[in-house]
Amino acid sequence: MAVTDELFLAARAAMAKAHAPYSHFPVGAALRTADGRVYAGANIENASYPEGWCAETTALGHYVMDGGGEITDIAVVAERMDRITPCGGCRQRLAEFSRPSTRLHLCDQNGVVETLTMGDILPLGFSGEILK
Ligand code: THU
Repeated sequence: MAVTDELFLAARAAMAKAHAPYSHFPVGAALRTADGRVYAGANIENASYPEGWCAETTALGHYVMDGGGEITDIAVVAERMDRITPCGGCRQRLAEFSRPSTRLHLCDQNGVVETLTMGDILPLGFSGEILK
């Protein structure tokens, strides 16, 4: 199976587990590492609205807790949108663990419809290099 198909299916399966009773806007995200591991997540909302978080953030939590590594590909899918792009906060979180060349696959319900890079969606982002 193609890498992009595998990642799309992982993101879509994660989306089915979203906890989104307030927005009714389920989102799924999946990350793939250079050595082929895949981590997925869904958005998890909260009755205290600001305490909820995004699908990309859930996926990043799984990825970091399992040892991290280089992220080569990211896929995102939303039930009610054909081509969702990560929110601003998630762009910054994803950038922490990826490169400008990391591929970002935007999906509809059937698969990848467009592939961008992290550099495309977060130009001039803040880098932690200066903090090291
Ligand atoms: N959401 C994500 O999970 N990822 C994004 O990149 C954009 C927004 C979620 C957050 C919230 O649960 C719902 O979509 C509506 O904003």
